[in-house]
Amino acid sequence: MDRLSVVILAAGKGKRMYSSLPKVLHPIGGEPMLARVIRGARELSPERLIVVYGHGGEAVRQAIPDEDIVWVEQAEQLGTGHALKMALPALPAEGSTLVLYGDVPLTRSETLRDLVAAGGEGMAVLIDTVDDPTGYGRIVRGMDGTAVAIVEEKDCTAAEKAIREINTGMLALPNSQLAGWLHALGNANAQGEYYLTDVLALAARDGVRTATVDVAHGWEAAGVNNKRQLAELERILQRNNAEALLDAGVTLADPARIDIRGRLEHGRDVAIDVNCVFEGRVTLGDDVQIGANCILKNVTVAAGTRIAPFSLLEDATVGADCRIGPYARLRPGAELAAQVHIGNFVEIKKSRVGVGSKVNHLTYIGDTSIGSKVNVGAGCVTVNYNGVDKFRTTIGDNVFVGSGTLMVAPVTLEDGSTVGAGSVITRTAPAGELTLSRARQVTIPGWQRPLKKK
Ligand code: UD1
Ligand code: CA
Repeated sequence: MDRLSVVILAAGKGKRMYSSLPKVLHPIGGEPMLARVIRGARELSPERLIVVYGHGGEAVRQAIPDEDIVWVEQAEQLGTGHALKMALPALPAEGSTLVLYGDVPLTRSETLRDLVAAGGEGMAVLIDTVDDPTGYGRIVRGMDGTAVAIVEEKDCTAAEKAIREINTGMLALPNSQLAGWLHALGNANAQGEYYLTDVLALAARDGVRTATVDVAHGWEAAGVNNKRQLAELERILQRNNAEALLDAGVTLADPARIDIRGRLEHGRDVAIDVNCVFEGRVTLGDDVQIGANCILKNVTVAAGTRIAPFSLLEDATVGADCRIGPYARLRPGAELAAQVHIGNFVEIKKSRVGVGSKVNHLTYIGDTSIGSKVNVGAGCVTVNYNGVDKFRTTIGDNVFVGSGTLMVAPVTLEDGSTVGAGSVITRTAPAGELTLSRARQVTIPGWQRPLKKK
């Protein structure tokens, strides 16, 4: 693919989304549609990547931080032909141009590669054959079977309306001819627009070869005009994700009930129960098992770890052979070594937990470092915040923290220390000793409960 440029048309308003977010920024698979189209285009290593934007321009540019993109504004949406014309000054005189739509997010890169290859020195159109061609441009073929024109639905004769071969909108075009063709476009048609599709007839007129490439799956050419279509494509994307995981050996309790909004990498013998959501970059090592209803965002989980149902993990690292959950919450900066147990209703934030340590019930650990073989009892809290500043708690190796303990940071529990249940620890708990702070229990003999008067 030498000298390939890609132009993504993304100036449309997206009125039917009923949203203040520009259409091409609506997320699919956890990223803006346009970002996904750009990612797909990049797989072809184009020398230039141009986005034609219009409606919501600033928001669109801000949402796509890629520095090498050439942004071209189309202030008025006068048609797809006009949109590509706006990009002309940014296109080199030689090579070819692939035209994509910012609201057609699921086209496979293989398909785009085939389209560009079929274009060669000439022109190629990505087409589909559908049962209901309503709304699409129809592919009109000459006596010898070559494509000679694309006719928009509103301009079709009755005979053309019956054609089931449709234009998906994606085209490969020779740059050497492009300026001439785009300047020749008129808008004397049913919609008063400059149709990019009219270049096919110009190519045929000029004796330029016009190839067609059939799209392998209908969803590759499906566009998003409303929330219903967005939801349909999201399901297709997730089904494709699930099938890829199954093909790679991951066990899924139900391929219809998993959502990947980013990238999921995995080892062997990984099993995922229903209704799990994976966001950002998630890596699961060999033999990892994820229970039902878990959410993992930017998380690395090492081999052999089990995450029980209803756990929420975000920006966290989990070592090998850990037991997490059910109902565990790992917040950003949680780093667990191997063989750690984190139980129900335990929250860990910006803290390291050493090998073999257990925090099993109803506990908050924040801004803390916990050594190895530590046991934190039920209902403990690191009191890390005085309303202004955050302070650290340091817990050494082999520490036993009794249930219901408050550790008022900054504070240290030295190696081998034991803290009695119900303590409020404000000073160092020395190594190897039992420390407790607890009011002595008293019993008032003969005390009587007050009685209600009748
Ligand atoms: C277009 C094709 C039609 C094809 C269909 C496939 C034309 C004339 N028609 O029709 O043959 O079957 O797509 O979905 O090309 N856009 C701009 N600026 C504009 C107009 C459109 O950037 O001035 C962008 C839109 O944001 C969108 C894409 O171009 O991403 C297609 O525009 P749209 O209005 O949806 O074209 P259709 O009428 O559906
Ligand atoms: Ca459309």
